[in-house]
Amino acid sequence: MCGIVGYIGNRNIADTLIDGLKRLEYRGYDSAGIAVIVKKKIISIKAVGKVSALSAKITPAIRKELSSSKFGIAHTRWATHGAPSERNAHPHLDEKGRFAVVHNGIIENYASLKERLISQGHKFVSETDTEVLAHLIDDCYEGDLLQAVAAALKKVEGTFGIAVISSENPGQIITARRGSPIVIGIGTGETIVASDISAIVSYTDKVIYLNDNDIALVEKDNVDLRNIDNVPVTREIAHINWDPGAAEKGGYEHFMLKEIFEQPEAIANSIRGRLDEEQGTGALSGLNLTPQDLATINRIIIAACGTSLHAGMVGEYYFEDLADIPTEVEQAAEFRYRNPIIHPGTMIIAISQSGETADTLAAVREAKNKGAIVAGICNVVGSTIPRETGRGIYLHAGPEIGVASTKAFTCQVATLLMMALKFGRARRLSRQNGIELVADIHRIPELVKKVLAKSKDIAKIAKKYANAHDFFFIGRGYLYPVAIEGALKLKEISYVHAEGYHAAELKHGPIALLDEKVPVLALANNIPGKDKIIGNMQECKARKAPVIALATEGDNEIRRHAEDIIWIPECSSETAPIPSVVALQLLAYYIAKERGCPIDQPRNLAKSVTVE
Ligand code: AGP
Ligand code: GLU
Repeated sequence: MCGIVGYIGNRNIADTLIDGLKRLEYRGYDSAGIAVIVKKKIISIKAVGKVSALSAKITPAIRKELSSSKFGIAHTRWATHGAPSERNAHPHLDEKGRFAVVHNGIIENYASLKERLISQGHKFVSETDTEVLAHLIDDCYEGDLLQAVAAALKKVEGTFGIAVISSENPGQIITARRGSPIVIGIGTGETIVASDISAIVSYTDKVIYLNDNDIALVEKDNVDLRNIDNVPVTREIAHINWDPGAAEKGGYEHFMLKEIFEQPEAIANSIRGRLDEEQGTGALSGLNLTPQDLATINRIIIAACGTSLHAGMVGEYYFEDLADIPTEVEQAAEFRYRNPIIHPGTMIIAISQSGETADTLAAVREAKNKGAIVAGICNVVGSTIPRETGRGIYLHAGPEIGVASTKAFTCQVATLLMMALKFGRARRLSRQNGIELVADIHRIPELVKKVLAKSKDIAKIAKKYANAHDFFFIGRGYLYPVAIEGALKLKEISYVHAEGYHAAELKHGPIALLDEKVPVLALANNIPGKDKIIGNMQECKARKAPVIALATEGDNEIRRHAEDIIWIPECSSETAPIPSVVALQLLAYYIAKERGCPIDQPRNLAKSVTVE
């Protein structure tokens, strides 16, 4: 779930480890720590709270003492076992102080392992699951650090991304993964281990992504890759194209605002090279599906979490309307545990910005076990889900640092639309219809730019409603999932309670909550269903609820039904979700700003949920 950094090289070790942790802060965490070996002794410094609190503990004298070492490991923790505390922060050591471990993930059998280790005389100091690893390694150590770590990990059930150093093996970091990402950056005379390329991009563009059950011995100029059974493996060296600036704020006050305003470019990047204007279809080679495969797919299940789930809900309409394929959307955790019915011809599409969400990854594995055709729609190149699905589409949205997902959502929706177009053209969708839809998709970045140009108007509306304690978002058809996504955006960054509902559902109970203090945002764009939503707006007004409408430019009728209006450019039903959600992202952002919320790292949230 959180951040790992390991470094071997000639830079100042404390500065390098702290810099790496700072680049991972966006993932959300509750404590942090580093471990460095000086004169065959492990020095570990930990702190609750932000990396700045940890950095403050590294006094000039300590920094000088550490500078004689050229390697070390560091961690930002998002607690799963044991409350956030200095004692529970990583790194964790064995009681002899020979091994230091940092770990992302969950050791599911830690309790039984801990009990056995304690019975053998091991002394534990923390409440975490992770600490068992340090003691297990100590138990297995016979001089070869990689072997000891491999032997320890073979006793472990659950997920891990780890880095280990030992006072017995100077100049070595052992790193391994199962279910929690690890990337190795190959520099010149230096090597960086991290849980995320954001900590690597400023050192090198050459990276190796570990696969599950890979383990590596990392030295200054060497990486020895094995699997956990000590069989040498080879992994390609990938080249990342994120320049260091790409992960910075680019002049915006928050990553989230930068990423909202990046959407025209991000969506254009998602679309680029993926539409066949001549044939009026999608050119999505990453799907590795032949026309025969496409013709045999007779059911689609979309599995995802959070915002990605909401994108999948839009996708359901696309696949059914454009490709006549029965489609359903499942929360990934529900899918993985409900013993899903998968017949030949069923395709599972896993949607995940990070490509590491534990429940979505598990859904992929469940689907593969049942013989489904599986594809991933992810943003992070080389992340686990796309590597395990073996087919899919990368969003090319660039790094999404803000915990609240914005550009990933709009790129996911655009990608699903291109997929549905491709599937539709392998079925009943005519070439002419396809050509028209291709032109429509090409217009999406312009639609988004028009909404972004109204950001000041939206900020004014946000200011007016910033003190509301409850909000409703209502929509129909293609805009129903957008209502739910708009509510999530507001909840997660402003901490205002908000509910997204199908507009027709309000009268079946929730309308009891409406009064003059409960604003209702109605997605009343000029697409099929608008006349019905006008009726829903009137129901809300009759209960004195202030109504804010998203409306299509030029639709003057709306003025009679809404107190405030956010104008959305004229567009088709299929493309309406994207400009509409951008307006709701901005509304949520400006309300959160008005309320003085942290925005990029909301409380309790993490960017990538790699634990169940
Ligand atoms: C959305 O703003 C949240 N950050 C969260 O719901 C997120 O969408 C969810 O955790 C899924 O993440 P993924 O797309 O990386 O799988
Ligand atoms: N399960 C470990 C702990 O609670 C690691 C959590 C994380 O991934 O940050 O310390």
